[in-house]
Amino acid sequence: MSVLSVCEWLQSVPWAYGIKHSTWEFPVVESVHSLALSVMLWPAAILDLRLLGLTMQRRSVSQVAAQFLPWVWTGFTVMILTGALLFCSEAVKCYNSPFFRTKVVLLGAAGLNALLFHQTVFKKVAEWDENATTPWRAKLAGASSLIIWIGVVAMGRALAYA
Ligand code: HEM
Repeated sequence: MSVLSVCEWLQSVPWAYGIKHSTWEFPVVESVHSLALSVMLWPAAILDLRLLGLTMQRRSVSQVAAQFLPWVWTGFTVMILTGALLFCSEAVKCYNSPFFRTKVVLLGAAGLNALLFHQTVFKKVAEWDENATTPWRAKLAGASSLIIWIGVVAMGRALAYA
């Protein structure tokens, strides 16, 4: 069974077909998907800018993380759930789309970047927590995260209009 035939089956399942073909379901799910983006993106960007040493320099990195990460996780969870619904309703379009494939790769890269950051430089955060200037590895993680998330959003938008 090919991935394409799984996608064809998925989007023909009654509830998935219903999302795509109802007048309001798809727009509502996509609107929630987009609104959740604003819940997660700005807090993520502020944290990334703090890692770059460009904002909130008088507050420690762990304070900024504690304040903003719950918003990032809340928005991210809603994005994944609504994204999965959107995907099921138009799985073949997504499967065939280079934008969607790039978005999935970038989501993986975002996860890997966060994991590496937590496994390495963030483990020793106590040593540089209060510093306005952060270690180069923290800067690299912040810059990579900003670039990756901009890419994810761009691919999402491109997919919607493709
Ligand atoms: C945090 C992660 C994500 C971000 C930042 C994101 C971002 C976006 C954005 C900005 C759009 C365009 C919305 C619009 O123009 O109205 C979009 C659409 C879409 N997203 Fe996501 N997304 C994420 C996760 C996911 C996931 C995990 C999936 C699937 C498993 C997914 C599936 C889709 C689909 C299918 C559309 C296009 C809907 C259409 O054809 O109009 N998204 N996404």
